[in-house]
Amino acid sequence: MGEHGELADFVVVANRLPVDLERFPDGTQRWKHSPGGLVSALEPFLRSRKGAWVGWPGVADVEVDEFSDGGMRLCPVTLTSTDMRDYYEGFSNATLWPLYHDVVARPIFDRSWWDRYVRVNQRFAEVSAKIAAEAAVVWIQDYQLQLVPEMLRELRPDLRIGFFLHIPFPPTELFMQLPWRAEIVRGLLGADLVGFHRPGGAQNFLWLARRLVGLEPSRGAVGVRSRPGVVQVGDRPVRVGAFPISIDANGLDTLARSKDVIARAKEIRADLGNPKRILLGVDRLDYTKGIDLRLLALQELLAERRILPSEVAMLQLATPSRERVEHYQKMRGDIEQLVSRINGEFAKVGQPVVHYLHQSVNRKELAAFFSAADVMVVTPLRDGMNLVCKEYVACRHDLGGTLLLSEFAGAAAELTSAFQVNPHDLDGVKNALYSALTIDPAEGRRRMRALRRQVLTHDVDRWARSFLEALGTETA
Ligand code: ADP
Ligand code: G6P
Repeated sequence: MGEHGELADFVVVANRLPVDLERFPDGTQRWKHSPGGLVSALEPFLRSRKGAWVGWPGVADVEVDEFSDGGMRLCPVTLTSTDMRDYYEGFSNATLWPLYHDVVARPIFDRSWWDRYVRVNQRFAEVSAKIAAEAAVVWIQDYQLQLVPEMLRELRPDLRIGFFLHIPFPPTELFMQLPWRAEIVRGLLGADLVGFHRPGGAQNFLWLARRLVGLEPSRGAVGVRSRPGVVQVGDRPVRVGAFPISIDANGLDTLARSKDVIARAKEIRADLGNPKRILLGVDRLDYTKGIDLRLLALQELLAERRILPSEVAMLQLATPSRERVEHYQKMRGDIEQLVSRINGEFAKVGQPVVHYLHQSVNRKELAAFFSAADVMVVTPLRDGMNLVCKEYVACRHDLGGTLLLSEFAGAAAELTSAFQVNPHDLDGVKNALYSALTIDPAEGRRRMRALRRQVLTHDVDRWARSFLEALGTETA
């Protein structure tokens, strides 16, 4: 039990808390918003729900007491520097992350990383077991914690346990590479409901439950938010379904309509030299995001003089991410080299073509960037959902702006009026980018209207409610 002394009826368990502790050399510290889509999506929901959130405060070796933040109860789990190295940077982000993202980088299989993953998952299960009230709902999140459902059930069979995977669930052939594949599937089967973004992920998981655990899953096709699959584990049915995540669309729409954001968007355009067209990329600096591909497409369009450097500016925001993992270090170097190469070739003094910020910006500033951009470029090689593209759409109440979207982002299934591209096909990306830059305004508005209809009616609240209804803890 925490210092609040109360047990919680609704608990979210995620690797990270929604805020990160930042420590400065002079010994002072502050909390800042954590990076990534999981936190962007779940935080607004949990605030309104007044639940508890179990997670790591983002710095190794610190003991932080439980505290409250705007209606949420935050319960920190301490990770040591060894946990960070082996469980977080190692097994989570150098084994599972690349394996689940189509092996776009080579996953490393290391037995000591696995051992630490097991131990840290056990610790998360123990903390969650201590704060959950009798028959509480516990909602476990993402690839870092796939063993927690089974471990928590062992400790607390009275709980209603949900699990949601925020990243893609891989093709079965790739998953089968994992030396600890059966353990992961068994871990997830500890939940009452296992959720994925796409029906294909759910279907793959059901196949693996048969192949690796010898269970007999239901046969029908899994639908979106409907017709979950079921697999019987002893006397307990486990549902397996597809629940595409989304954003706080109305909140962003309202923010983008505010005077401040509109004025700031104008200022950003002016700061970029009021070019005819502004391209925008916003990502965590991750090799799955295909940042290099969009830069290469831009470089070729400039080299072929299909677009002129005086007429475009590209702004790439890249949040620092997982900076101690080798794959990330290499990719950062490659991207920064490409940015300099483009500017070296095509910029003028005081007029770079690519403006690159290796920084996070706040929500208001981000809304202003979205509002200022003519073309939003989202080109992941693989992405579970991708929220950035939905955020862009939510900010375009003016029906301006065009979205270029990789067909390998989960969001592509919903955002069918975007310009969709195969990011591996450089000519295809280049041509789509050119079409987006030169789109007829009426056609652009038509597309944006259709995109907004989808995003504004399928927000994160609907996502959470549909998951919790399927978990049997919420009524429609
Ligand atoms: P991922 O979860 O893989 O990082 P998503 O697109 O699903 O990808 O979510 C990313 C989230 O992080 C979005 O809410 C986006 O607005 C936010 N974000 C990404 N880059 C930045 C940045 N440079 N500054 C502020 N927020 C950012
Ligand atoms: C993605 C993952 C999240 C993760 C986030 C940021 O959204 O699905 O689980 O929290 O990236 O990554 P980080 O490693 O900094 O937590």
